[in-house]
Amino acid sequence: MVGNNGKAMSDPLSLLADRFRPAFTSVAGAPADPVVRASDRADAQVNGALAVAKATGKVPRDVATEVLALLGDVSDMCESTEVAGPGFINVVFSRAFLERELATMTNSSALGVRSIEGKETVVVDYSAPNVAKEMHVGHLRSTVIGDALVRMLNFVGYTTVRENHIGDWGTPFGMLIEHLIDLGEDQAAEAFSVGDLDSFYKIARQKFEADDAFKERARLRVVALQAGDAETLRMWNVLVGESTKYFNRVYRTLGVLLEDSDLMGESAYNNLLPQVVERLRVSGTLEQSDGADVMYLDGFTNRDNEPLPLIIRKGDGGYNYATTDLACVIDRVERIGAQKMWYVVGAPQAQHLQMVEAAAKKAGWLPANVEMQHVSFGNVLGADKKMLKSRSGESVKLSALLEEAVERASRAVEEKNPALSASERANVARMIGIGAVKYADLSTDRIKDYIFDWDRMLSFDGNTAPYLQYAHARICSIFRRADIDRTSVRGVTATLGEPQEKALALTLLQFDAVVWDSLAKASPHRMCTYLYELATVFTGFYENCPVLKSDEPQRTERLALCDATARVLHCGLDLLGIEAPEAM
Ligand code: ARG
Repeated sequence: MVGNNGKAMSDPLSLLADRFRPAFTSVAGAPADPVVRASDRADAQVNGALAVAKATGKVPRDVATEVLALLGDVSDMCESTEVAGPGFINVVFSRAFLERELATMTNSSALGVRSIEGKETVVVDYSAPNVAKEMHVGHLRSTVIGDALVRMLNFVGYTTVRENHIGDWGTPFGMLIEHLIDLGEDQAAEAFSVGDLDSFYKIARQKFEADDAFKERARLRVVALQAGDAETLRMWNVLVGESTKYFNRVYRTLGVLLEDSDLMGESAYNNLLPQVVERLRVSGTLEQSDGADVMYLDGFTNRDNEPLPLIIRKGDGGYNYATTDLACVIDRVERIGAQKMWYVVGAPQAQHLQMVEAAAKKAGWLPANVEMQHVSFGNVLGADKKMLKSRSGESVKLSALLEEAVERASRAVEEKNPALSASERANVARMIGIGAVKYADLSTDRIKDYIFDWDRMLSFDGNTAPYLQYAHARICSIFRRADIDRTSVRGVTATLGEPQEKALALTLLQFDAVVWDSLAKASPHRMCTYLYELATVFTGFYENCPVLKSDEPQRTERLALCDATARVLHCGLDLLGIEAPEAM
């Protein structure tokens, strides 16, 4: 998806691949792509000779030798290149090259991360809880992943449009409004303000099922809502307003970017629904099935292998979730002018989104140059590997979960640093607790399920937010102890004399590639994996290379490496929506 922007330029491994590509191509007699990886033996290992050997019938080591012969002068970049093993090429970068690259990176405010050329608009559809219903952990996942993607997209220069497609329309609102009337608006507001949305919904549903008179009232109320009855709309607004107030509290606690102006709920597309049907009818893609207006799309069948219709308008005239999503595609393409639309929605909605995409294409509303991508994710599991539930077996209330995270973090911080003042501790505990929950979610491949484990996510060891936050704070404290302003060491070119210094520089220089790679796969966990590696490599440097105790100019040069590491950690965490305190 990143096209010609996706090639990392400040990343030494990609630069190396660019240098080797012509030689590989001429040995292969056809375009051949060297695969360059970081290596323990040297700095980098260039693979690809095996593939070329297979294609040409040559011996892999001979291919590697021929490639080196054709490579030309790479001394500006490499100290040595040699054939190893069955046909790899091991490369040691020259110190001067890495020093130069690192100086360029640290002198740029974007830390060497390239921006897109031109302008491109991306709609990110995320969070999307339902009115008068508790946000569940699935919405937590969507919120946290979507927000990280928005931050990364913004960082490289995309114009992003956040859309919170809340469930705020449809037949359940008949019973919800009638329940609101029974309960009284003050009582309802009270229940919502303490985040007791689930019981409101549940009681409404119970009454709907048990009481025929209530059911009839609910039915009439839906009719009034559809017809735009003013008093009904006012009450509907009360429900939406109280719910979004609650969602906003969760968003502020989580520290995500979503605001009221990002609300683009199902109701927003209501007026467009008749047009959807009309435009489909005109394009000749609408068919009839049992009195309903449907679309048949290639490749979608039910369990009995019969064509599966996408219902656009039911027999009773009502519209569907899919109809709204089709209106939404039209809006995003035609009004917003999006080039990409990313749907951060759980895996169970995969077929729904595939059918919406196929229908939009068939209707001609989704041009080939507009990307519609389902950014899917798995479940959050409890220790028992079943869907995460509270002790009483209820679904976990998000607000309670976040409170518990901060409480637990507060205890951990008190143990680790009793000297912090109460207000400092409260602030750090918030950053750590919330960061831990978000990072635990972001750091596993989103496609997979993960187990929600308090002890693991709050640990100061391993691939966790507290570990990375601590690594960052520790670097800040080096500067504090020496009473040196961090900005004073910027622009200093570090001499990479020690292997650990070189390893640190190489890792720092990957940052650009990692941002782009995370975006290409819409996978924030790639950023997490990298930051964890960076913190680990930094530890190796710090244990082997004295900083404050060494003489000048080495002292300042090493401080510059410390500062660069802290900047990348801070920036990387920020792209994940996680705060990094300077002390903890
Ligand atoms: N409100 C839906 C849910 O809770 C998610 C909406 C996702 N976005 C969309 N355009 N369908 O499952």
